[in-house]
Amino acid sequence: MAGELRFDDRVALVTGAGGGLGAAHARLLAERGAAVVVNDIGGTDVEAQQGASAAEVVAEIEARGGRAVVDTHSVATAEGGRAMVEQALERFGRLDIVVNNAGVGRPGAGFVDLPDAQLDLVLKTHLYGAFHVLRPAWRAMREQGYGRIVNTASATAMGVDDSWDYPAAKGGLVSLTRCLAQTGERHGIKVNAIMPMAFTPMSAQVPSDTIRDWMKRTFPAESVAPTVALLCHEEAPCNGEILSVGAGRTARVTYAVVPGFKTAEPSVEALRENWSQVMDSEGLLIARSGQEDSGLFGVGFEDLGVTRMGPDDGPES
Ligand SMILES: NC(=O)c1ccc[n+]([C@@H]2O[C@H](COP(=O)([O-])OP(=O)(O)OC[C@H]3O[C@@H](n4cnc5c(N)ncnc54)[C@H](O)[C@@H]3O)[C@@H](O)[C@H]2O)c1
Repeated sequence: MAGELRFDDRVALVTGAGGGLGAAHARLLAERGAAVVVNDIGGTDVEAQQGASAAEVVAEIEARGGRAVVDTHSVATAEGGRAMVEQALERFGRLDIVVNNAGVGRPGAGFVDLPDAQLDLVLKTHLYGAFHVLRPAWRAMREQGYGRIVNTASATAMGVDDSWDYPAAKGGLVSLTRCLAQTGERHGIKVNAIMPMAFTPMSAQVPSDTIRDWMKRTFPAESVAPTVALLCHEEAPCNGEILSVGAGRTARVTYAVVPGFKTAEPSVEALRENWSQVMDSEGLLIARSGQEDSGLFGVGFEDLGVTRMGPDDGPES
């Protein structure tokens, strides 16, 4: 096996790292030499996971000879995002890695009755939180021409019965990941996402005893961290990918599009008659971008020679 992958001289920010998956990611990155900002509102906020403590994780890392600092700002506000990035820059002089992991889960409520306050909390933490943390981080990464970002999505984004706010927020993160990955190519920044499965304080809230016991036996948080660490490394083998990770398995999750049905004279009836072609998986294309789908319309999108959505002479993202 080639040499150990190290993070000496790299600085990482891991959000929501006072327990669960985030703590496992922070420990592994620190063990491999990274200086880590361990963020969590644990102990400071009512929305925190009970028992989460960035201070305990930092103490553990330091006791093993690693470098880490506590941050207790919330990802759910723009000020919080800016403050944790500043903390990395002031304390360690740069920021190379962001693992966007902070999250809240709330017991399911009916779609119609979902309280607005819950919708706000979940979207603000998972989706707005990514914007709040990544925008100041992006500025620093773009200036240094290097960065690695891992967002934490969820397989629920692919669809799940009886849950709405959380899967929708996680689906938003998938799209944000894929867009930033394209823009990041110009700046040496790679952006990927994981859909983890792990027994953590959050998944321990699952009401079913059977599912909880099975999760506990099958999905240790530590088995997700190596995939995250590889994505955070200079040698990260991909950009804009979504990976399902848990129980020792890592697997690509992707968007795919079929050639579909095309006619010069679209009509309701023509569509009804050709619906099988709309759905036919023959010729399925794994699309890395929306542009690849646009190419399938067969109307010369590729010939435009344009890939950016912004104005042709617009500012650099
Ligand atoms: N455990 C799983 O199977 C699973 C599955 C899919 C996705 N996820 C995602 O993985 C991530 C980690 O979850 P986990 O399972 O380790 O749960 P967890 O509850 O143990 O960890 C989440 C941490 O985020 C912290 N946090 C919450 N709001 C915050 C805020 N505004 N600012 C800073 N920190 C905040 C919490 O205090 C907690 O320590 C979450 O984004 C979660 O949605 C987990």
